Amino acid sequence: MPYNQLVVDNNELVKAAATAREAAYAPYSKFTVGAALRTNAGRIFSGCNVENISLGLTICAERAAVCAAVTAGSQDIDRIAIVTDSNEPAVPCGACRQVLAEFNPNMKIISATVAGRTQEYDLGDLLPVPKQGILEGSKNV
Ligand code: THU
Repeated sequence: MPYNQLVVDNNELVKAAATAREAAYAPYSKFTVGAALRTNAGRIFSGCNVENISLGLTICAERAAVCAAVTAGSQDIDRIAIVTDSNEPAVPCGACRQVLAEFNPNMKIISATVAGRTQEYDLGDLLPVPKQGILEGSKNV
């Protein structure tokens, strides 16, 4: 199998996201989310949403998965699957779009509901201009 071809297919990634969702800590919204990302080398990292009584401190499943990957030394993220128990597949929030774009502005996003509806997105369509102007003028970046 050529390098970069899917070692893990989308269905497997969705399953990993569904498993991660079971660990979600969402006592305030009751909206549990799981995410699982795949690196170019075929490694999978998952995350779930972790809410906080100070609601703005909530960490989304996507960002938790990115932190798990980066902590393990993997930054070459190819795609991410998200699972929610909603009528329609969810789209990542703006903060998560920007965090995902840091590692791959053209990442594929596969969003699935528990009931099996799926929708695919290109991050480049959801966040077309990821970081123009940010830190402009800083001599340290
Ligand atoms: N949430 C995610 O984890 N990912 C998404 O893509 C949508 C929103 C979480 C944040 C919060 O815990 C709950 O879902 C409701 O917004």
